[in-house]
Amino acid sequence: MLDDKDRIFTNLYGMHDRSLKGARARGHWDGTAEIIKRGRDEIIAVMKASGLRGRGGAGFPTGLKWSFMPKESDGRPAYLVVNADESEPGTCKDREIMRHDPHTLIEGCLIASFAMGAHACYVYLRGEYIREREALQAAIDECYDAGLLGPNAAKSGWDFDIYLHHGAGAYICGEETALLESLEGKKGMPRLKPPFPANTGLYGCPTTVNNVESIAVAPTILRRGADWFAGFGRPNNTGTKIFAISGHVNAPCVVEEEMSITLRELLDRHCGGVRGGWDNLKAVIPGGSSVPLLPASLCEDAIMDFDWLRDQKSGLGTAAVMVMDQSVDVIKAIWRLSAFYKHESCGQCTPCREGTGWMMRVMQRLVTGDAEIEEIDMLLEVTTQVEGHTICALGDAAAWPIQGLIRHFRGEIEDRIKAKQRGRVSAMAAG
Ligand code: NAI
Ligand code: SF4
Repeated sequence: MLDDKDRIFTNLYGMHDRSLKGARARGHWDGTAEIIKRGRDEIIAVMKASGLRGRGGAGFPTGLKWSFMPKESDGRPAYLVVNADESEPGTCKDREIMRHDPHTLIEGCLIASFAMGAHACYVYLRGEYIREREALQAAIDECYDAGLLGPNAAKSGWDFDIYLHHGAGAYICGEETALLESLEGKKGMPRLKPPFPANTGLYGCPTTVNNVESIAVAPTILRRGADWFAGFGRPNNTGTKIFAISGHVNAPCVVEEEMSITLRELLDRHCGGVRGGWDNLKAVIPGGSSVPLLPASLCEDAIMDFDWLRDQKSGLGTAAVMVMDQSVDVIKAIWRLSAFYKHESCGQCTPCREGTGWMMRVMQRLVTGDAEIEEIDMLLEVTTQVEGHTICALGDAAAWPIQGLIRHFRGEIEDRIKAKQRGRVSAMAAG
């Protein structure tokens, strides 16, 4: 359980001054030049030792990713790109950072860029994030005025600029290579990997793409030390983490907590518990729409971290926790996600383009009970043909929630089909 003194984001709800003055009063921009003067290697070593894993959803170790950037310049500029295209359904944590604690991100951009040899950083914002862009731009302007950005940024000896770029509302542009395409002014379609962006990223130059939260926690880790950060959570799942909790809890919220907190404690402590009590819980999607749901029976002991959730064939993803009580038609809920992925598929690879539509249509028949029982396994088979056979993770993201539904709620799906069949037989008999 996290104490207030260990929270990195102390203004998530905007109760305090978000300006530079307020940020400084809360400890940000403190000793930034000294951190930079410790040098690239030490900064990366501290980030590795902290155990920070990427907060955008995939959980790739952040320090390791930074270390992939070339040590020596081959004449090409290096870039940091911040992925602020937060579009995963249920996810609204980066939004709170940019709205209310923007200086955590800007200071992080400077330090991370220095560590990777980048003099320029692009922040790619979700199209709908207009208020967030305004807040971030205002904070950036303040930093230029105060000499924290620009030539000799924060008196560190490093010249550094930040540019904001607004997306136009396509989910796929949150995929890092589609984001780079979009930033280059092209259609936002994912590239094949490898090469990874550290090799060939923005404009063919070495680039690291990091999530907002991953970058925004870096300055505090470097100020307070790797051991401090690694002291939270479990091995391989360290640190503090922002959870965005929505759905059937008494008080939905966005909160920073210790990694590996139990789901029950998270909901009881910060959300006033499940609506109607814990016994009224039906299922939880623990990490945004791309990860399979957990039925109530697995929620009781659920540990909110990468490894525990992966072992349950689910995932921490973006830590967007969507709580569903007994009133929810869980089949319909997953159908809705299928419709979302079909709509957002960029269409460049066949298993995703065709598979998402096919899966959605079968899901639709499961909702109404008009499918045949055999179609459940047929649908499962199709999800395995989409999963792992596409250019980007959208195909997996469309397949996994359906797999989770069938794994945990097959009985409910079958009951609905049988009830419909019985209804049809009775109607025929009556007619
Ligand atoms: P990924 O596992 O392919 O990559 C994660 C990161 O590690 C990338 O930056 C990638 O370049 C890097 N990486 C992986 N293997 C590497 C290697 N061998 N060498 C160098 N770099 C390597 O996952 P991806 O597609 O970036 O993210 C998928 C996740 O994103 C999903 O699980 C979902 O939870 C999340 N997501 C988040 C959204 C949001 O709004 N924050 C929206 C949609 C999905
Ligand atoms: Fe496009 Fe889907 Fe292929 Fe990703 S998996 S590249 S979204 S068609």
